[in-house]
Amino acid sequence: MKSLHRRFFLKTSGLGLLPAIFPFTNAAAAVADNNLSAPKPEKLIKFFGDGEMFEPGDYIAELAKAHASTALVKDRYGVGGVVTELEKKFMALTGKEAAIFMPSGTMANQLAIAVLSGQKSKILLQETSHVYRDEADAAQSVFGKRLIPLAKGETYFNLEQLKETISAIKTDEAYGGEIGALSIENPVRRTDGRVFPFDEIKKISSYCRDNNIPLHLDGARLFIASAWKGIPVKEYSAYFDTVYISLYKYFGASGGAILCGPKAIIDQMPELIKVHGGNIYGNWTNAAMALHRLEGFEARMEQTITRTKELTAELNKIAGVNVAPLDGGTNIYKITLSKNLNGRHMRNRLYKEFNIQMGFPEGASQALITFNETLLYQDISFIGNAFRKSIT
Ligand SMILES: Cc1ncc(COP(=O)(O)O)c(C=O)c1O
Repeated sequence: MKSLHRRFFLKTSGLGLLPAIFPFTNAAAAVADNNLSAPKPEKLIKFFGDGEMFEPGDYIAELAKAHASTALVKDRYGVGGVVTELEKKFMALTGKEAAIFMPSGTMANQLAIAVLSGQKSKILLQETSHVYRDEADAAQSVFGKRLIPLAKGETYFNLEQLKETISAIKTDEAYGGEIGALSIENPVRRTDGRVFPFDEIKKISSYCRDNNIPLHLDGARLFIASAWKGIPVKEYSAYFDTVYISLYKYFGASGGAILCGPKAIIDQMPELIKVHGGNIYGNWTNAAMALHRLEGFEARMEQTITRTKELTAELNKIAGVNVAPLDGGTNIYKITLSKNLNGRHMRNRLYKEFNIQMGFPEGASQALITFNETLLYQDISFIGNAFRKSIT
């Protein structure tokens, strides 16, 4: 895959360090040749979620590691220490002039859209987006915006659909006015991590820039899109004015977000964060964790993608099992079982006997399977054999 040969956000790859980073446990070594009587691994392999999502004990241990390597410096109300360091790191990663730590992605999206659109009320976005469906109508009720959804139920809209919508507003409405901002989510959570095609983003961005429509990117999972599609984060970011990235979905933090963009926009944020009650005294634990997990993230993602392919090939060798990527997708695949196999039973055994967790709806023959860094906890033959054994 192209992405494996192309650094997706950092200049250097830490691939050479991988054997030291991911030593296999004795248990895994013992089961590598089909010996399944070895003890199940301590660390849970999760086939759901985009990252490791640490439990408290592991979280504290990770932070302790970070602190042992370089003493962590705390912030005060989001200023100084590791928070400032994180902001600088994301300015470099996205190529934006400024960045600010936000207590949540919801606040990052809402404030970005509100500031970008200024006095204008109309905001165009995907009907499937988090901003449209999952932010408690904040844009309407708090910021006085009118959200205009495109492409119902779909991952993305194209430039033609965008133009049609804008021209319909102008001709059919008494107060057609101008568009305040366009918000794009990529990848799209509600369509199982499918991506907004990059070529379409380019065309839409160029049109918007020609027509003075500011662009916001809800890139909660932008680093996933970048890794799986081989498009650098900076390249994606270049087509948008503001970009938000989650700190907890795959960077290990327990919450938080970062918003990057032009200085003139980001400089307005501290006061707005305070007005909306989001100015938290200490944010350093989340910032420190994200900084710590950013180290080597690119190498771990490349390894996760390689392992995904290896595991998929292994699983497809099992009679009655088919695992395939989603059309236009990223890290979420579909697993299909033939009628004589019981997914619920497989799920239960995987968990109880092998410490591997995945969802499988009652009575269903298909389920989604999400690949993340927990795939690196064991070698592929262990996981493949666990499936083989659990399916019977
Ligand atoms: C695509 C997307 N945008 C924004 C958010 C909001 O993030 P937060 O939970 O930090 O408010 C989420 C969270 O699930 C999300 O999936």
